[in-house]
Amino acid sequence: MAMAILFTGKSSANASLILCIIAVSFVSMALGRHGLAGRKDPDEKVFNVLRYGAHPGSEDNALSFIRAWKAACNYRGKARLLVPKGTFLTGATIFQGPCLGPAPIKVQIAGTLRAVPDPSMYEEDFWISFENINGLLVTGTGTVDGQGNAVWKYNVGDGGARFPSSIKFNHVVNGIIRQITSVNPMGFHISIVLSQNIRAKNLRIFAPADSPNTDGIHISQTNQVSVSNSVIGTGDDCIGIIRGCSDVRIRNVTCGPGHGISIGSLGKYQDEEDVRGITVKNCTLNNTDNGIRIKTFGGSPPSQASGILFQDIVMNRVKNPIIIDQFYGNKESPSRVKLRDVRYHNIRGTSTSVVGVNIKCSHTVPCERVSLSNISLNYVGEKKSNHGISSVCTNAKLNYAGFQLPSPCR
Ligand SMILES: *[C@@H]1O[C@H](CO)[C@@H](O)[C@H](O)[C@H]1NC(C)=O
Ligand SMILES: *[C@@H]1O[C@H](CO)[C@@H](O)[C@H](O)[C@H]1NC(C)=O
Ligand SMILES: *[C@@H]1O[C@H](CO)[C@@H](O)[C@H](O)[C@H]1NC(C)=O
Ligand SMILES: *[C@@H]1O[C@H](CO)[C@@H](O)[C@H](O)[C@H]1NC(C)=O
Repeated sequence: MAMAILFTGKSSANASLILCIIAVSFVSMALGRHGLAGRKDPDEKVFNVLRYGAHPGSEDNALSFIRAWKAACNYRGKARLLVPKGTFLTGATIFQGPCLGPAPIKVQIAGTLRAVPDPSMYEEDFWISFENINGLLVTGTGTVDGQGNAVWKYNVGDGGARFPSSIKFNHVVNGIIRQITSVNPMGFHISIVLSQNIRAKNLRIFAPADSPNTDGIHISQTNQVSVSNSVIGTGDDCIGIIRGCSDVRIRNVTCGPGHGISIGSLGKYQDEEDVRGITVKNCTLNNTDNGIRIKTFGGSPPSQASGILFQDIVMNRVKNPIIIDQFYGNKESPSRVKLRDVRYHNIRGTSTSVVGVNIKCSHTVPCERVSLSNISLNYVGEKKSNHGISSVCTNAKLNYAGFQLPSPCR
């Protein structure tokens, strides 16, 4: 509001420029120091879950949380749902919109949420879900603990029922999730589906390397997503981007342990929506199985993925730093997911396998316009390699520019 007054004021151009700079730095100071949710807004009404019957301790607080949410969401002014310090156990919880107040509705988690560690208590694929909300900010210095360590042993793999994601955004438009720490989910840490314009930042996401299917951030059928300034160490994909995603930007994320940053698996569904416009920049992969991977199912129905850029990526002891696998889960039949316009620029670091660049495209729909520029990967594996690090390429036309280690496919 201050900005609008400044801009419409009758002061001279110079004076308003200076005022504007002061205003901008003031605003950024306020945001930087306290974060939006920490700033006291006199117009904002706080809905503390304690006032709706929640208790720290061992009883399931889901109903109290939902009561508090309903009050906040139906309030016609600015609203903030607050989970204060303390540890709260909850089962499956849906925070359902649309809400009546001005966007965004805020959810501040200061304490720790613990999931009831019994998969049979969850009918759907989430523990905490935000649904049908336009304008949502989830923030706080708190932790969501899926208590997955109690249930991972029952995981039956990709073919079986999916364990609940700790946090799901489903049909959320204009959503932000930041600062939160997520540990030990039963399934994915964060799942974003059928949503639009979502920002995830300053997140800390942790689970052991051997925890099954615990993707860090799993994104599907969503456009305009940014993930930045986060640290993700988990058992499965650091970030997984699957069908129907477009305009996804990932920046300054550190991954590891885990399976790395993955586009795919693609080609799982009939009439699968295409993937378009994915950029991954300034990321570090630390001790991951894969670095930057595109994977599509062998024998898949047709679809496309295009406009993919990986730039300024550092690999530390990564097993498959650059990999395209169009024979995922099925070595015999070709995938029909067409890959085009995939660029790798400034990728450096170390590989623990001899094949540093592994591009295996489909022979029915060969990859088009794949380019590698300025690649520098050194082999640091245990086995002795007589020829150093190498590249493997099938069914792809590759363009090379700048430095290349491993040396290009012939
Ligand atoms: C990158 O993210 C880390 C947190 O993971 C943060 O401390 C750092 O400031 C970020 N760097 C930039 C340039 O934003
Ligand atoms: C991203 O990486 C490049 C190359 O390493 C570096 O020049 C640039 O400052 C980095 N940007 C950020 C925002 O960290
Ligand atoms: C990389 O992994 C090693 C071993 O797991 C760990 O000691 C180191 O702190 C990690 N580095 C970063 C940047 O996360
Ligand atoms: C290639 O990488 C080197 C070292 O990482 C860097 O100095 C140079 O600017 C890069 N070249 C391009 C074209 O980005």
